[in-house]
Amino acid sequence: MRNLTLLLFICGALFAGAQLAGAGDASKGSDIAKAYGCEVCHHKDLDGKKEVRIKNDLMAFRDGGRTRPPSMVRKAQNLSDEDISNLAAYFSGK
Ligand code: HEC
Repeated sequence: MRNLTLLLFICGALFAGAQLAGAGDASKGSDIAKAYGCEVCHHKDLDGKKEVRIKNDLMAFRDGGRTRPPSMVRKAQNLSDEDISNLAAYFSGK
């Protein structure tokens, strides 16, 4: 019985963690986009892109998978996973 309780606890923690990393907050994303000036360069070309695509691209810039353009790499280097989720939620929902 104790083991079952422990197992349920671990599943719950994993689920909560997955949600945290998964679902972004579009209004926070909007604030980050303003602070970084994303739309100064991108205008509307990120609007309505798939959330997962935006996330993957930003992580690739940040983690070295994509090195061009260097201006984008510099921007992405300061982003946390949460920032990236929030930005992806914001732009994909526009
Ligand atoms: C200094 C100008 C500039 C700023 C500011 C900027 N970007 Fe970019 N970004 C670019 C350029 C240039 C590309 C490459 C576009 C291409 O390859 O067609 C790019 C590519 C991307 C891509 C990959 C998709 C694509 O079109 O290639 C994403 C996603 C992205 N930027 C998101 C962002 C976000 C989010 C921000 C704000 C945190 C941001 N960018 C800020 C210039 C900028």
